Amino acid sequence: MIRVTVPATTANLGPGFDSMGMALSQYSVFECEANDVIDVSIEGLESEKLKIEDNLVINCMNKVFDYIGKYPKGYKLKIINGVPLARGMGSSATAIVGGIMCANALMNFPLSDEEMLSLATEIEGHPDNVVPALLGGMIVSTKTGGGEVIYRRIDIADDIECILFIPDYEVSTKDSREVLPKEVSISDAVHNSSHLALLVMGFLNNDKALIGKVMDDKIHEPYRKKLIKSFDEFKEGAIQAGAFAFSLSGAGSTIIAYSDEKNSCKVKIAFDNIADKNGILGKSVVLKPCSRAALCEIN
Ligand code: HSE
Repeated sequence: MIRVTVPATTANLGPGFDSMGMALSQYSVFECEANDVIDVSIEGLESEKLKIEDNLVINCMNKVFDYIGKYPKGYKLKIINGVPLARGMGSSATAIVGGIMCANALMNFPLSDEEMLSLATEIEGHPDNVVPALLGGMIVSTKTGGGEVIYRRIDIADDIECILFIPDYEVSTKDSREVLPKEVSISDAVHNSSHLALLVMGFLNNDKALIGKVMDDKIHEPYRKKLIKSFDEFKEGAIQAGAFAFSLSGAGSTIIAYSDEKNSCKVKIAFDNIADKNGILGKSVVLKPCSRAALCEIN
């Protein structure tokens, strides 16, 4: 039996639009074994919303079979979903990585990590969620003009905690990308490139004051904010409660604050109070960054 465990991810971290992401300590699990026929079951979080027809995990398994030009007779697949859907926590990246890793293990590991990465990026369209979902940790990544996915990991301090408010309402990545401008001004581009460079320095040096100053974006969050209920109030509440930084998680609807361990409970309570006051249904959670890569166990 193959058992693949893939972490949720938060992408963008403010100015790192489509290029920065971090794995989080919440996971989806995919169990797979050879079988005479294809037999798929889905359970776990929001599993009622996931369909076997046109399923992303199965589609990604098929991409691997097409890529290597070999097909199994059948397989048994159990998807145990642990990442809420369309909330900006990388649910599609977990499905893509889970499918690719299951198929790779089922076919006796023909693909290298680099091949899995480039297949996953090709399917997702951008590397910011899939690379940390596969490799764990905080990652800055890009696709070069030649199509190569390059990335570097940032080893971050282990006292950082992430406080997320996950609203019940969904925001699809498609809708959240449609509100973005087609072009950005030079001043906004400079704002983002300078802020992202300093954000990386901030995480590398565990300089939380710097991280707080530069986790600020001008090319997607200002446009997406209108899709996110009480975004500014959550941000202000998180900072007042002791978080050192705040951003939209991926394309939303989840928002994420960064805090050291001593303040994370206060930030969580602040999120709950703001949600209550504004009648926003959802759930707040405290997660740790996940430094471990997606895990493939064979029993
Ligand atoms: N970087 C992506 C976005 C993440 O912000 O649209 C969601 O897939």
